[in-house]
Amino acid sequence: MTGDDIPATDGGTDTDGADSLALDPWGSSTVSDYRKLFEEFGIESFEDVLADVPNPHYLMRRAIIFGHRDYRRVLEAMRDDEPFAALSGFMPTGDPHIGHKMVFDEIIWHQEQGGDATALIADLEAHSARGLSWAEIDEHARDYLLSLLALGFDPEEGTLYRQSEDREVQDLAFELGIEANFSEFQSIYGFDGETDVSHMQSVVTQMADILGPQLDEPKPTVVPVGPDQDPHVRFARDLAARTRYFGVTEAYASFEVSSDAERAVLRDAYERLSERAPEGTTIRCLHAAQLLEGGLDAVEWADPAPLDDVADGGDAEATVLPKLNNAGMEPLRPRVRFLDRNATEEAFEALIDAVEGEKRVFEGHVDSFDMDRADAEELAREVEVDHGGYGFVPPSGIYHRFMTGLTGGKMSSSVPASHISLLDDPETGYEKVKAATTGGRQSAEEQRELGGEPDDCPVYELYAYLLAADDDAFAERVYEECRNGERLCGDCKEQAAELMREFLAEHQEKRAEVEELLAETDIELESPRRR
Ligand code: TRP
Ligand code: SF4
Repeated sequence: MTGDDIPATDGGTDTDGADSLALDPWGSSTVSDYRKLFEEFGIESFEDVLADVPNPHYLMRRAIIFGHRDYRRVLEAMRDDEPFAALSGFMPTGDPHIGHKMVFDEIIWHQEQGGDATALIADLEAHSARGLSWAEIDEHARDYLLSLLALGFDPEEGTLYRQSEDREVQDLAFELGIEANFSEFQSIYGFDGETDVSHMQSVVTQMADILGPQLDEPKPTVVPVGPDQDPHVRFARDLAARTRYFGVTEAYASFEVSSDAERAVLRDAYERLSERAPEGTTIRCLHAAQLLEGGLDAVEWADPAPLDDVADGGDAEATVLPKLNNAGMEPLRPRVRFLDRNATEEAFEALIDAVEGEKRVFEGHVDSFDMDRADAEELAREVEVDHGGYGFVPPSGIYHRFMTGLTGGKMSSSVPASHISLLDDPETGYEKVKAATTGGRQSAEEQRELGGEPDDCPVYELYAYLLAADDDAFAERVYEECRNGERLCGDCKEQAAELMREFLAEHQEKRAEVEELLAETDIELESPRRR
């Protein structure tokens, strides 16, 4: 079955886009329009990569995981049996609920696909940003961990830690903090002069959480989270890049380009000229300059038969032209360039030695004429790691929709009736579902005639996100029967409520079973901190 047939839930959110969108990791804003995330923040649609996911999880098939950032590199590692990692973190501020279950499931799924999986307790963040005491944190942390294990996380293969107890993470956080400054905190997170310093420290700690799985070796890493956490993913990507020893880019001549747009102008000029160059002609910077200034007619040897106009490179054309004129008779040739960013002298020397084939060494960069981009990236990373660098791969993100609260609006940990806690008594779970808001019509008669609105129904969401589990046909049947008026809300809720009761009873049984397993892990369950 493909993902196409499965009704996607849109979380019952309106899509008129009237609300302005801000991604605030500590705010309480709901995401009102998922499309905007694509346009404004460059999150890509998960649909685009779904076909390349081996055994996609039902959350992926049902488009509940709706977006990603750079997930392709993780999929490639999965496909090629290369190392990759998945990690997420949990602030122990209350009971784990069915929204957290999605993230637990995502971590576990990546572990099952062979990933190196980590779940961490964000206790420093809970203490600093939310003001929880250590005693409260310990209690909740234990509950998160039991549910994670009960759902199938393998603690022998995977890693569990709490931020406050992980020295390696703290050390990495400190190093990453050197690359971050307050102005960025202001613009990314809206921090200001009133923000306490520990809250800022919890941000660099999260950066270290995200990059930590790469400390033993660089590898693609995915962070499954809600889209509110995307600013953290983007920031971690930036910090990762800043620590890198070398930059790898495409170049065409010895001079530096100052933007991707300039590079695109050069690429375009090179391609046009090489299409037309008579056998044995050396294409020179001068020719590209002539081409930019006067079109192909201006290049002495080019066949002036009509060609499309040179792509309008706008400003980039104007800024690259003097560079080309200046370079004059220098050949224009595509190459891969290694730029020295933060490398030590020995590391740069070692890189120069390691570049195979024809190369040219300049002040601050070395050009290779025989390597392709991917091999160059790999070599740069190898040399960096050999010389004590991290060699971080930019981390990726996958983003799931938020569940609507059972009472409509946002599902909130602080409003018990709005969510189902994984610790709720099965009977309470049953009652909460029975009391939930629906997407049904005023009367049974109207519902039979018009059908219900599963897209605006928190109960349908329960089926799609949780109760139907892996059974796509069942989720689809609920959706269709609702749409065509065969299904009435009373029975539908009864069925959902019973399934919820079963799920909770089973989950809690498993939680009891994994108590021992938890005790055997080396995660600290009682913080020595008391203030
Ligand atoms: N900030 C996250 C939250 O608010 C928790 C968190 C801490 C986290 N470190 C992380 C999430 C690393 C993903 C990856 O819930
Ligand atoms: Fe929601 Fe079920 Fe009613 Fe449809 S029939 S609106 S899915 S409760």
